[in-house]
Amino acid sequence: MVKISDLARWMIEHPSAIREIMTLVAEFEKHPEKWPRKLIYLAGGWPQDPPPEILKEKLLEVINDTELWRKGARYSPTVGYPDTIEAVINYEKEIWNRNITQENVVFGLGSSEQIGAVFLALVNPGDEVILTSPGYLNYKRQLDLELKLKAIVKYWRIINEDAIFDPNFDDLQNKMSNKTKLIIVTTPGNPDGQVWSDEQIKAILDIAEDNSIYVLFDLAYRAFIFDENKIPMYLSKTPGEFDIWSCTMSKELRIPGWRASYLIIPSEIKRSLDTIEQARTLAPVSLIQLVFQRFFNDKTALRKLSQFYREGAIKYGSVANRTVSLLKDIPKINVLEPKGGFYVFLDVSAYDKDSKRVWKNLINSYQVALAPGVDFNGFEGWLRLSFAPVIESTELLEEGLMRIKEFFESYGK
Ligand SMILES: Cc1ncc(COP(=O)(O)O)c(C=O)c1O
Repeated sequence: MVKISDLARWMIEHPSAIREIMTLVAEFEKHPEKWPRKLIYLAGGWPQDPPPEILKEKLLEVINDTELWRKGARYSPTVGYPDTIEAVINYEKEIWNRNITQENVVFGLGSSEQIGAVFLALVNPGDEVILTSPGYLNYKRQLDLELKLKAIVKYWRIINEDAIFDPNFDDLQNKMSNKTKLIIVTTPGNPDGQVWSDEQIKAILDIAEDNSIYVLFDLAYRAFIFDENKIPMYLSKTPGEFDIWSCTMSKELRIPGWRASYLIIPSEIKRSLDTIEQARTLAPVSLIQLVFQRFFNDKTALRKLSQFYREGAIKYGSVANRTVSLLKDIPKINVLEPKGGFYVFLDVSAYDKDSKRVWKNLINSYQVALAPGVDFNGFEGWLRLSFAPVIESTELLEEGLMRIKEFFESYGK
């Protein structure tokens, strides 16, 4: 019998929880007769609302132009066409008020792929990486894979015992050692929905500077900050020596299936990312780059996009508020009020500290799929609700929240 590698076996034993939930959803769709009610899916992180109409127009322009259509079928340079990077620079300037140069940008195939390349560029076997707890679940799996289980992950707790978002910088400082290479922060957060303040980001960067290490800021949800008056300044920051900014188009443009992203990096690491990606991806998708070249250099299109982002953030903010207020109706549950993104993180430990058990019971008895907190860097006793998959069908969200209430009212009875 042909044997798979030890690493492949490890990955099989440690699958991505969210991807596994997808398998379950497929089973529900194929055999709905097995369950008393239709599944309400509030687990995954993809928006149900469509990409902006202007993106379709730009795609059609590229497809209908013979030269561009041909160019879009060819390989691009590994870090993206210089014209794509120019377009990204313009987008950053016009939409995010950030000044960057060609040397600061690497275009890629989705932030999952690009963050994997960052790990390869910065972390040696035996080095330490600090992740937040709770935190996005894929970083740890990517580190395991890319570093062949040889990276040491330390978790920095950012929600305190009173269920309040309160990153403690002494704790972070205490986790640092001469082996620490990288800290990762997601803002707005997944699964917590918290927007880190300018002071907090500065405190992390000060620690990074003192220790000469990098911080990766994952901005996957930057377009979903609900309160326009509370958009932090760091979204406009020009990268210094130690900060890397991961920007994906998946959520902000509602195109997770296109696999498009870019990293904003200190120029010193561009060549390493370029040469690593030469071996891993060869190049990002040319056709998509040409669409962005058209889109991000068009002032009118960017104005429309800016409006799309603001209206989207308001819509997501109001669904978040509604979700929080219905969850607060349930006794003994602590809800962490999100300030951005599309997740609500709730503490159900008064009912059961085993989040996977609660999660499973909720699916089996009430057919509502959330995501268990333990999968977000070991944050037990909590659940994550994602309202993105029902942002356009809020009646399903209301129905789901009603079922969740009934579920907890009868929990353990
Ligand atoms: C914080 C965060 N980063 C990255 C990703 C993945 O993004 P991409 O589609 O760019 O790979 C996700 C997906 O849910 C996410 O939540």
